Amino acid sequence: MIRYLTIVATAGVVLAACAPERQVSGRALYADYCASCHGATGRGDGPAAAGLGKAPADLSLLSAENGGTFPKVHVMSVIDGYTRRGDRASIMPELGPILQEGPLVMVDTGDGIMTPTPANLVALANHLESLQQ
Ligand code: HEC
Repeated sequence: MIRYLTIVATAGVVLAACAPERQVSGRALYADYCASCHGATGRGDGPAAAGLGKAPADLSLLSAENGGTFPKVHVMSVIDGYTRRGDRASIMPELGPILQEGPLVMVDTGDGIMTPTPANLVALANHLESLQQ
């Protein structure tokens, strides 16, 4: 297990080193993969929203619904597909594979442990944070 974690951490460092120039844009990722349902400003009013059986969440209220704090770790796990994996009722596509293209960055995911996390996922979560009302 420790050996596995070391390999994962090392892979993160190597990947990050291979793509130092690549700018990750949360805004662009959001426009490409999320805005069709959630809308440009996150209010759940994208062009594809009407055709869904379930309304897309209003992503501009995530902080308000969480006592004023942006629930970053929850958001990252939803986006990554972990929270909803196996939930057949969920309409949200699993975006993990798309988001894992590109470098990894070290992030404290709330437990005080630095974890290699896809830079795309972090950028997307930061963009969502900027959409909060
Ligand atoms: C096909 C339409 C669709 C796309 C594309 C989509 N979503 Fe969603 N999303 C939904 C729906 C519908 C819900 C609410 C119902 C559910 O959970 O399945 C939701 C829920 C969420 C939630 C949960 C909010 C909460 O209160 O926990 C988050 C966060 C989220 N989406 C973020 C994203 C992000 C970021 C993207 C792009 C990477 C994205 N979604 C792409 C339809 C979509």
